Amino acid sequence: MAKHTIAWLPGDGIGNDVMDAAKLILDTLKLDANYVHGDIGWEFWKREGNPLPDRTIEILNNTDCALFGAITSKPKDEAAKELSQELQGKGFVYSSPIVGLRQLLNLHTNMRPCHAFEGNPLNYRDNIDLVIFRENTEGMYAGIEFRPMPKDLRETMAEYNPKIRKFDAVADDDMAVTLRVITRKGAEAIIKDAFAYAKKFNKSTVTVVEKANVLRETSGLFLEVAREVAKNYPEIEMWVTNIDAMCMWLVKNPEKYGVIVTSNLFGDITSDLSAQLVGGLGFACAANLGDEYAVFEPTHGSAPKYAGKGIANPTAMILSVRLMLQYLGENDMADKVYSAVADVLKEGIVRTRDMGGTVNTMEMAHAIAKKL
Ligand code: NAI
Ligand code: MG
Repeated sequence: MAKHTIAWLPGDGIGNDVMDAAKLILDTLKLDANYVHGDIGWEFWKREGNPLPDRTIEILNNTDCALFGAITSKPKDEAAKELSQELQGKGFVYSSPIVGLRQLLNLHTNMRPCHAFEGNPLNYRDNIDLVIFRENTEGMYAGIEFRPMPKDLRETMAEYNPKIRKFDAVADDDMAVTLRVITRKGAEAIIKDAFAYAKKFNKSTVTVVEKANVLRETSGLFLEVAREVAKNYPEIEMWVTNIDAMCMWLVKNPEKYGVIVTSNLFGDITSDLSAQLVGGLGFACAANLGDEYAVFEPTHGSAPKYAGKGIANPTAMILSVRLMLQYLGENDMADKVYSAVADVLKEGIVRTRDMGGTVNTMEMAHAIAKKL
């Protein structure tokens, strides 16, 4: 039996292209692993009315971790139109399989390192080396939404907070509400992970990004928990910044930040911004970590217009492979991947289109594999 069993989830569009690149890297490293293919994404929504079929969940339950490419996702109404004829009007409602996967497996921590590799012509600035810890299962993306907004629900809410009376005259269907949920447990999990990481990798600061002056209860609880956790790390300085100011600071002084920790929506925003500072989506990798399972993926989507054309930069995917190797305890291999990527970028000869070069996805992957 192989040492590791890995769920292999290419998904849609360029997810497939970059997963081929990942396979080349893993095969070159001769990782002792068994790869189990899992169906996920738009094709399965159209054909089966479920972008995350039960048989895939079964695979996730029987593997050590998953490597995931990207999926195509569309708004509810558009999704309904693309369902196959025989599934139309049968009550199938689209929901994102990634969000589903994170919630199902309780992958509470999304870790996104953003490193400006020397020689990357797309770097906004050199010396950027930050890691974002984004809460992954609750906050604004808990999935608790209302439209129409039922009157009786509003009545009940008014008993606890009369401010909702302001909307009494609004028709149910003209009002939509998304619930932002922060729990002590959820906040604690992500904040502890962020501080533990800062300690392990000698980062001197952890920046907590919220908006507690306005979102007093939810951001307030998040900060309260952060202050408690920080007490266990006297050697690490904790900074607190509002999300809007943080976007400004990241553009002004990105090299000042080491570890950033925040809730779901704010983490989504800061990580796209930070990804762009170090070369864009072609370089942004991510780990979704739970207590018992983990899913590794590039941050980018399925980029349908690039699908199958060999245009996608596989670096984000290959850096996600590195995070997976670390998770599996294959630290030597993980370090090799990192150095190989760094070497190729530093040489600046082999470059994909996003970097102004001409090589395709697999040529870039081969150049990195050669350094291994
Ligand atoms: P996207 O990330 O797929 O692409 C946006 C643009 O970024 C592309 O047009 C391309 O110019 C560039 N890009 C992305 N990946 C690249 C790579 N590896 N190399 C070079 N350039 C790259 O985002 P978009 O266009 O908003 O969404 C396309 C589809 O992907 C949608 O259906 C969306 O819902 C889905 N999506 C899925 C995600 C996931 O699977 N985790 C994340 C984001 C979007
Ligand atoms: Mg995003």
